[in-house]
Amino acid sequence: MGIPRQKVDERLRVAGIEEFGGAVGALEVPNPRTLREREVLIAVKTAGVGNWDDIVRAGDWDVGRTPPMALGVEAAGVVAAVGAEVEDWSVGDEVLTHPVPLVDQGTWAPWLIAEAALLAPKPADVSWERAGAFPVPALTAIQVLDESLRLTPGEQLLVNGAGSVTGGLIVAFASLRGIHVLATAGAASRERVIRAGAGTVIDHHDPDWAAQVLEATAGRGVDAAANAARGGTASALAAVRDGGRLATITSDPPDAERGVRIASVYVRPDAAQLEVASQALAGGRLEFELGASFPLSQADAALARAVAGRGGAVVLDAVSD
Ligand SMILES: NC(=O)c1ccc[n+]([C@@H]2O[C@H](COP(=O)([O-])OP(=O)(O)OC[C@H]3O[C@@H](n4cnc5c(N)ncnc54)[C@H](OP(=O)(O)O)[C@@H]3O)[C@@H](O)[C@H]2O)c1
Repeated sequence: MGIPRQKVDERLRVAGIEEFGGAVGALEVPNPRTLREREVLIAVKTAGVGNWDDIVRAGDWDVGRTPPMALGVEAAGVVAAVGAEVEDWSVGDEVLTHPVPLVDQGTWAPWLIAEAALLAPKPADVSWERAGAFPVPALTAIQVLDESLRLTPGEQLLVNGAGSVTGGLIVAFASLRGIHVLATAGAASRERVIRAGAGTVIDHHDPDWAAQVLEATAGRGVDAAANAARGGTASALAAVRDGGRLATITSDPPDAERGVRIASVYVRPDAAQLEVASQALAGGRLEFELGASFPLSQADAALARAVAGRGGAVVLDAVSD
């Protein structure tokens, strides 16, 4: 099956940039090209918006395409056509994806061409809004925990910036794995972070919050810390025990000290991880809050909301409807 007839316009209206560093606005791009081997065409239902999209906009994250282009690196939607040698997906399948490197346009578009290998099935009881905003923060959280920190039972984890979308998911996935989590969060996020599974929540507005973590760990410090607060990695380091581990997702790693291993984590696509993560989202087992949804025509406002970081995931809704 090809593209439904009523969806075929001469040009495709997307939200993106004319040049790196330029403002986000409506763009017209050619309709999706013919699919190549192992590619899938997705009718995008929802597409997530994060401050990482501003990094793409600035030209500081190479996602494999150059402008003019639709922005967006995560989406949920319905398979509308499959290329040759696609065996795992059929027209009508509901999927989510972090499709980087982009093979055509970004996800802020009614149609997306993605590599079939980068899709995961959308669980039926996960809403389109949550599914579209889930791939990047979820994969980041999983990769911090399972590939960088590799916690073992009984270890204590600090999540600095647990009020953020990604930090909240680090707390939630760690809690599901039975790890004891200490977290920093402001008053507005405190209850959500506790629901995500944090045993101890310390207000990051206290300049001495790292000292409170030391106090809560009998002066020893946590075995491992994940930093999801912009500019917060050095403070998180102060709360880690000698010889512990620190993973940061905010590109501000300090110099190592006291034998603490410090790693910067940059999200990458992994369909198997995304499938397992989205199964945890199904059935309400995972705390993951939406902050705001916008129509595709207001992608600029959606990005401004995400960059402002007021908590909760941001999503473009009803993109191809
Ligand atoms: N490396 C990667 O692959 C990767 C992937 C995803 C995200 N990131 C980065 O990770 C960071 C978080 O992204 P996000 O979208 O999840 O964030 P977000 O949801 O926009 O986070 C905003 C929240 O962080 C909390 N916060 C703000 N300043 C803080 C501070 N100084 N200390 C502790 N918490 C603070 C606030 O909550 P409360 O004050 O209410 O607690 C705020 O509501 C961003 O820098 C983003 O670019 C990197």
